[in-house]
Amino acid sequence: MRILLLNAIDPEAIEELDRRYEVACAFGSDRQSPPSLISQSEVLVFRSGVTLSQEVIRDALRLRLLVRAGSGVDNVDLNEVRRRGIRFVRIPGPGALAVAEMTFALLLDLARRVSLADRFVRLGRWPKPQLVGSLTRGKTLGVIGLGNIGTRVGEVGARWGMRVIGCVEHPSPQRAERFADLGITLLALDEVVSQADFLTIHVPLKDSTRYLIDGKVLARMKSGAYLINIARGGIVEEEALSACLDSGQLAGVALDVHEREGEGIVPDLARHQNVVLTPHIGAMAAETQRAIGRRVLKLIDGFATGAIEAAIEDGELVV
Ligand code: MLT
Repeated sequence: MRILLLNAIDPEAIEELDRRYEVACAFGSDRQSPPSLISQSEVLVFRSGVTLSQEVIRDALRLRLLVRAGSGVDNVDLNEVRRRGIRFVRIPGPGALAVAEMTFALLLDLARRVSLADRFVRLGRWPKPQLVGSLTRGKTLGVIGLGNIGTRVGEVGARWGMRVIGCVEHPSPQRAERFADLGITLLALDEVVSQADFLTIHVPLKDSTRYLIDGKVLARMKSGAYLINIARGGIVEEEALSACLDSGQLAGVALDVHEREGEGIVPDLARHQNVVLTPHIGAMAAETQRAIGRRVLKLIDGFATGAIEAAIEDGELVV
């Protein structure tokens, strides 16, 4: 069985796949040209940073299984996958904790100006009055999207002493009660945006969330609030965000995901001192990547032996 890895995954998983199957890599030093490899492969393993468009899927004539070594499915043409009858699984479980922890890394960085302070010290500067930050205890944490990751973020925030509010696409009294048990108050999107001192985004990118946080929504944020996007580029309108930073409305912004991502791209927002930028590393904890690698192996082994249904866990089946 021919497997093509379009992105790097855990090295141990690659070694193990290599022992069992015919594996080609479209990344790193042994990279080969993806189009011809895709057309020969029965299984594609991929992450963010590649686009599996309608044309790519249509031309992948031997393709029978797509494995997303992570959570998001925004970079795949799902209609074409369905039309072709290709099995598509994703692995959302292991990344949730890593992304939730990274959210707090960014939140605390913003609150205490850690990245900015680091940049000053490297220049031999010691401007303590410019580095006065704020405490998080007692502040309002607004979570947009209380799914797997957002709920964890909310729970940690509540335990950390923050007032936590959040919203979901389909609210109900039952869901409000469940969130209340975790210390999270369920509100409407508008209320979350306008009350949060720290606003953090945890929704997938789809038609209904593209530019969910546009200029109008940003204008409703509190003066002096902080914004964190660790979900997907394209959910926040970066041009409008830049204008908000120019006007001094927001105290700081952290983006792990960007409208344009990848090697060689310098985001326009890099010109602002109070912006923290990271290269889509929310799920890049070693333990997380190892766990995802093990799931990739299990799913592919299941597929090779005709037992993929038994190998698929809750939340993993896309198509
Ligand atoms: C994911 O959706 O799991 C993340 O974007 C991780 C990634 O693919 O890099």
